Amino acid sequence: MKVAIIGQGYVGSALGIAANEAGHDVLGIDIDSKRRSELASSIGYPVSADYSSVQGSDVVVIAVPTPLNEKREPDLTFLESACKSLAAVLKSSVLVVNESTSYPGTLRNVIAPILGDVHLYAAAPERIDPANEKWGIENTPRLVSGLSSEATSKALDFYRSFCEEVVAVSTPEVAEAAKLFENTFRQVNIALVNEFAQIAQALGISTFETLGAAATKPYGFMPFLPSIGVGGHCIPVDPSYLSFAAEKVGVEASFINLANNVNASMPEYLAARISELLGGSVSGKTIQVAGISYKAGVADTRESPALKLISLLRGAGAKVSWHDQVVGEWNGESSTPLSSVDLGVIATAHEGVDYSAWKNEKTMVIDVSTSSNTGWPKFL
Ligand SMILES: NC(=O)c1ccc[n+]([C@@H]2O[C@H](COP(=O)([O-])OP(=O)(O)OC[C@H]3O[C@@H](n4cnc5c(N)ncnc54)[C@H](O)[C@@H]3O)[C@@H](O)[C@H]2O)c1
Repeated sequence: MKVAIIGQGYVGSALGIAANEAGHDVLGIDIDSKRRSELASSIGYPVSADYSSVQGSDVVVIAVPTPLNEKREPDLTFLESACKSLAAVLKSSVLVVNESTSYPGTLRNVIAPILGDVHLYAAAPERIDPANEKWGIENTPRLVSGLSSEATSKALDFYRSFCEEVVAVSTPEVAEAAKLFENTFRQVNIALVNEFAQIAQALGISTFETLGAAATKPYGFMPFLPSIGVGGHCIPVDPSYLSFAAEKVGVEASFINLANNVNASMPEYLAARISELLGGSVSGKTIQVAGISYKAGVADTRESPALKLISLLRGAGAKVSWHDQVVGEWNGESSTPLSSVDLGVIATAHEGVDYSAWKNEKTMVIDVSTSSNTGWPKFL
C-alpha cells in the first residue's frame, strides 16, 4: 500500500519504520524542518513538508501532537491544522486513520467533518511506550475501529500487515476511550501509591517493604511505584482529555482530577521534604539533580516533574545544578558532571550513570526515582 504518515515525531516515525519494513511504500509528512533533517539519515523512507505528495495514497495516518492548552484542556490545533492541509489535497477517496490520542468522538466530530464525506475513517490509537524493550509497535495489540464496516476492514488489513494482534472494537469512540482509560488507570494508580508513600513516611513505615509485602498477594493487586510524579505527554495529559469529555456530558470526573492533582503536587511535597532534610531551609544549599527527563532512557523533558522540583528549589534559594547525559542540554543549560554537593537527588535513574563522585565525596543522596538499582535508600 502507499502509506502517508502525517507527523513524523515519536509515533509517526516508529509507524513509518514498521510499515516500511512490512513492505509498504511510505511517505512521511512533517512541518518541522529540524525534525525532517534529523530523520533524513535514520529512516528508510522520504519525509517531506509537501502535502501535495500525499495524493494517490491508499492510507493516510495522522500522528500529530494533542497537548493541553494553558487551561489544561485539549488542544486540537495541530490535529485540525493537519486535517485542513489534507483536505486541500485529498480529492479521491482514501482511508484516513487517526493514531493521535484524543477524546471519544474526535474522529467522527472533528476529523471527518474537516475532510468531508468522500473518505473512509478509522481510529487506531497508538499505545507505544518509549524505551520499553519488550513491547513495541509489532507486538502491542492494536485497537482499531472505523466509521463504516469498509473503513474498519481496510484499517484491519493495514494494521495486520505489521502488528501481531489487531483488535477490532465496535466504534471509534470505544478505541479512543480505551486509550484514554488505559493511561488514566496508570495516573490514578500512580497517584494512589504516591499518596500512600506520604502516609507511610508520616507513619514511619517503609513504603517499599509494604508494597513488596502487598505484591505477594497473587490476585487482585498490581504494584505501582512512588516517584517524583509523572511526566511526558501521555500520563499527565491524557486523563485531562477524558475528564474534558466527561464534563462536556455533565459528569464530574472527580477521581481523575484528584489523581492529576496528587501527581502534579509531588515535586512540592519533595521540595518540602528536602528542605526538612537540610535543616528547615534550602537557601544557599548546593543541590544536584540526576536525571531530568521524565523517564529513564528517554531524552524527553516535556512535563518532567524533575524540572518542577528544580524550579521550586531554586525559587527557595538553593543552588541547583543537574546531571543528565541523555538530555545533555535543556533551556540553555548543560548537564554538569556529578560533584560534591549538600544533597544529590536522583529524580530519574538513567542506566549506566556513574555515581562514584557522590559516593567518594560521601554526599547525602536521596533516590526519588522509580528505579530500585541506584543503591541509595528511597526517600519516600
Ligand atoms: N510518544 C508517545 O509515547 C505516544 C504514545 C502513544 C500515543 N501518543 C500520541 O501520538 C500523537 C503524536 O505524539 P508524538 O509523541 O509522536 O508527538 P511528537 O511531538 O513527537 O511528534 C509530532 C510531530 O508532528 C509534527 N506536526 C505537527 N503538526 C503537523 C502538521 N499540521 N502537519 C504535519 N506534521 C505536523 C510535528 O512537527 C512533530 O514532528 C499524540 O496524540 C500523542 O499523545 C504518543
